[in-house]
Amino acid sequence: MPPPSLFTPAFTDPDQASDFIRQFHAEVPGAGDPVRRVEEVLDEIARTGTYRHTAEELAFGAKVAWRNSARCIGRLYWRSLVVRDLREVSAADDLAEECFEHLRLATNGGRIRPMITIFAPDRPGRPAPRIANSQLVRYAGYQDDDGRWTGDPAGGQLAARAAELGWKPAEGRFDVLPLLIQERPGEQPRWYELPDDTTLEVPLSHPEYAWFAGLGLRWYAVPAISDQTLEIGGIRYPAAPFNGWYMGTEIGARNLADADRYNLLAEVAERLELDTSSERTLWKDRALIELNRAVLHSYEVAGVTMTDHHTESERFLKHIAQEERLGRPTPADWSWIVPPVSGGVTPVFHRYYDPVDPATRPAFLAREPW
Ligand code: ARG
Repeated sequence: MPPPSLFTPAFTDPDQASDFIRQFHAEVPGAGDPVRRVEEVLDEIARTGTYRHTAEELAFGAKVAWRNSARCIGRLYWRSLVVRDLREVSAADDLAEECFEHLRLATNGGRIRPMITIFAPDRPGRPAPRIANSQLVRYAGYQDDDGRWTGDPAGGQLAARAAELGWKPAEGRFDVLPLLIQERPGEQPRWYELPDDTTLEVPLSHPEYAWFAGLGLRWYAVPAISDQTLEIGGIRYPAAPFNGWYMGTEIGARNLADADRYNLLAEVAERLELDTSSERTLWKDRALIELNRAVLHSYEVAGVTMTDHHTESERFLKHIAQEERLGRPTPADWSWIVPPVSGGVTPVFHRYYDPVDPATRPAFLAREPW
């Protein structure tokens, strides 16, 4: 048995709760004086060990958690987050069904909507369910006996775990992983294949090179993080998948290019007939740019929302200026904000950011292991 602390979530911290209620009342116009609500919350914690957010507090908390995400360049739109309040849902089958519905609603035929679905929180003696996947949609990876990968190495562990549970891998390059949901600690996760109508994908082609489509590459439309705990006012929501839309470089300069992911630069360079005999020909850089052009082009053609790193950098600086006018800092992590290609030609490269305080709440936190 793991230590009991992991099985019995602690009581909600009354200081965290009252700090949050005060922040809500200070920021939300018309929320009025916090005194009565703080009293009510503290009383509820004293009686039950925790408290229940109002729907408004929950939505505000989720949006501010996004606003506080120091690694996210896309925060200009934090107010527009669509919040699905599904705190009554805690059974694995129902979670799976509602994750599917999240993907359908967020995909919205290609006009991606930033969205979060918030499932049951941890309560004293009643831990919340967990989604084992790092994202709702991700590709499986399989390693052969020689250590060679098919698919996405980042989906290797989950694919192996799902296979152990009875999932039948197709052993392809872009197999969408099933959802693995654990209802209670110590229980085996259950697995759920994603229905086709939940996972819009984009086949990759290039605006000039017809051969590119023949590489058979694709990526999914909606990046929906599912392994972070949303913490608001001392309450933890470990199952709270959320999504925005993609910035092209995430796919073109990382997922498809990183040596420990799809590792495609050599193949693209070869098709481009680049001179790969020396690093100094910059064949990697040239292949990388064409890969990124293909990603942006393909999402555009498919009518799926995607942003580019130049536009998003401008928007982020606009966000910082807007927050500053409201008297708020924008903590940011330079190494995550600066895009992985052409950093120096985007304005986000040429400055420093407000320091990140790990105690800032509401926040999305790395999920603690069970
Ligand atoms: N970088 C991750 C990926 O490539 C997604 C992270 C969230 N990205 C976003 N645009 N909201 O899948």
